[in-house]
Amino acid sequence: MAEDAEKPFASALIGAAVLGLFAVIGALLVGLSFEGTADRIAQNEREALLTQLNAILPATEYDNQLLQDYLDVSAPDLLGAQQTRVYRARKADQPVAVIFSPVIANRYSGAINLVVGIRQDGRLAGVRVLSHRETPGLGDKIEARRNPWILGFNNRSLQNPAEDAWKVRRDGGVFDQFTGATITPRAVVAAIKKALLYHRAEQASLFRASDEKREPADG
Ligand SMILES: Cc1cc2nc3c(=O)[nH]c(=O)nc-3n(C[C@H](O)[C@H](O)[C@H](O)COP(=O)(O)O)c2cc1C
Repeated sequence: MAEDAEKPFASALIGAAVLGLFAVIGALLVGLSFEGTADRIAQNEREALLTQLNAILPATEYDNQLLQDYLDVSAPDLLGAQQTRVYRARKADQPVAVIFSPVIANRYSGAINLVVGIRQDGRLAGVRVLSHRETPGLGDKIEARRNPWILGFNNRSLQNPAEDAWKVRRDGGVFDQFTGATITPRAVVAAIKKALLYHRAEQASLFRASDEKREPADG
């Protein structure tokens, strides 16, 4: 009789134990797959960033690990952002270019985030818009996928055009504005010019800083 009374209790205990086991296995699986997903997301983000940087400076032009060779600088007056990351491209240990991300132009509907690549000789490797909130059909022509306008900065420098011609045509400069939308391109031209001025002033220190940061050799 006593044995019969214990049976439901024992089977309830076994049921609870099995349930508990499944719960633990389930939690472990979720944990593992979350970790795997987080790694994959981080990897995807790195690849997306590198693709973006390589659109400005092709991978064939440098041989260092661009994503690992950077410096964070703060020059809000010239770069527009509180902090800007400076990726340094080198070939055979010689400086090739730097890529600033972001350079911010503050404009019509908020910040326009730019990536600006500048070669060692002061020529622009290229400029791309990372994000903006300008008006579709007006200010959004700054995006390379909508209009080739932004590609017109390739190879420009503070000598080409001369510094005082770094303006849109309406203001007496050489860069086109868009029909009915002068404000956005004016802001972008000004932001790129300021990034070039920053580069001219700080170029040497940007690369020198990396040498100081290098790990000392063993011993
Ligand atoms: C609703 C609205 C949205 C606008 N968006 C933009 C814009 O994103 N970028 C821009 O440069 N101008 C924009 N404009 C136009 C500007 O207010 C301004 O008129 C223009 O930039 C001046 O250029 P224009 O002298 O060539 O006409 C917008 C105007 C309106 C009414």
